[in-house]
Amino acid sequence: MSGLLMMALLTVLTLTLESDHWTAGPPEKIQNHSISPRFCTWQCLKLTLQWPGSFCLGLKNSSQCRIPPNIQNWTIHGLPLKAHTCCRCWPIFHSDLKELDPELSQLWPSLLKTHSSFLFWKDEWIKHGSCAACVEGMNSPLLYFQICLKLRERFDIDRALEDAGIKPSCNQSYQSDEVKHALAPVIGDDPGVQIQCINEKGREVLVQVKIPLSQNLTLGCLHEEDQGTEPQPTQLWHPCPHDSHIFYFPIKHDRPHQPCD
Ligand SMILES: *[C@@H]1O[C@H](CO)[C@@H](O)[C@H](O)[C@H]1NC(C)=O
Ligand SMILES: *[C@@H]1O[C@H](CO)[C@@H](O)[C@H](O)[C@H]1NC(C)=O
Ligand SMILES: *[C@@H]1O[C@H](CO)[C@@H](O)[C@H](O)[C@H]1NC(C)=O
Ligand SMILES: *[C@@H]1O[C@H](CO)[C@@H](O)[C@H](O)[C@H]1NC(C)=O
Ligand SMILES: *[C@@H]1O[C@H](CO)[C@@H](O)[C@H](O)[C@H]1NC(C)=O
Repeated sequence: MSGLLMMALLTVLTLTLESDHWTAGPPEKIQNHSISPRFCTWQCLKLTLQWPGSFCLGLKNSSQCRIPPNIQNWTIHGLPLKAHTCCRCWPIFHSDLKELDPELSQLWPSLLKTHSSFLFWKDEWIKHGSCAACVEGMNSPLLYFQICLKLRERFDIDRALEDAGIKPSCNQSYQSDEVKHALAPVIGDDPGVQIQCINEKGREVLVQVKIPLSQNLTLGCLHEEDQGTEPQPTQLWHPCPHDSHIFYFPIKHDRPHQPCD
């Protein structure tokens, strides 16, 4: 049997299995492919992008950290919203994301040895994607992850910092205003935008950026109360303090948890 035919058969089989699953799903939540509208009360999304160079600082168990060798740029942490784990009835399989795999592996890798990247995506789908799926255009795993990748492309933090001359370094810091101004052309200066730091032995280090979006994916969201909150990997993550010097540590693949020691 040719590989192609095999793939086609597998695809048919997968689809058949999935549609069986759909009809067998809990009837109060899913009759067809739509999620109950009572889950669709959220108004805002928060694109959360992280800097791998400092992600591993302050992890409780620093040997859990791993930055895949191909990772050189900002990566996606997630696209949270206020609702949480809306429907476990929508399973996700690695094959659902096959066509996005190269891009997701580059832009949304797991940085934890204990989690494969697919496990990370699966968790994010269950926690947030299953809630986003009540909106047209995000109503499948493939569509949800496609949107996330498009947003990552649109909000190019690497480019913004580079254009402002802010380069990863262990020995040079930047004024917090300088970082804010560098990012403003890309992510705006909406009060909902959060630039987060981690304190590493007295130094404030840039680690994450949160960008508020409306349900229609325009920048900014007026419904502040609806903005998703993502638990931080550690308590040490906080908004970068005003009037402080901020470090932008380089990515060190061989010692991700001690890039500057
Ligand atoms: C799909 O199910 C939802 C909720 O159960 C229902 O409101 C909607 O009308 C259904 N759509 C179709 C096309 O059957
Ligand atoms: C830390 O993580 C490593 C790698 O996953 C693991 O082997 C080790 O047991 C962990 N240590 C603790 C104290 O959890
Ligand atoms: C990383 O970001 C730089 C600066 O914007 C860009 O030139 C480069 O193509 C990016 N690399 C990848 C793999 O996305
Ligand atoms: C500053 O850091 C860069 C890389 O982060 C390094 O190449 C350079 O040698 C350092 N300069 C000094 C003066 O330590
Ligand atoms: C997107 O949604 C926001 C908030 O609901 C609204 O103000 C804006 O006009 C919408 N933009 C488009 C292009 O639909």
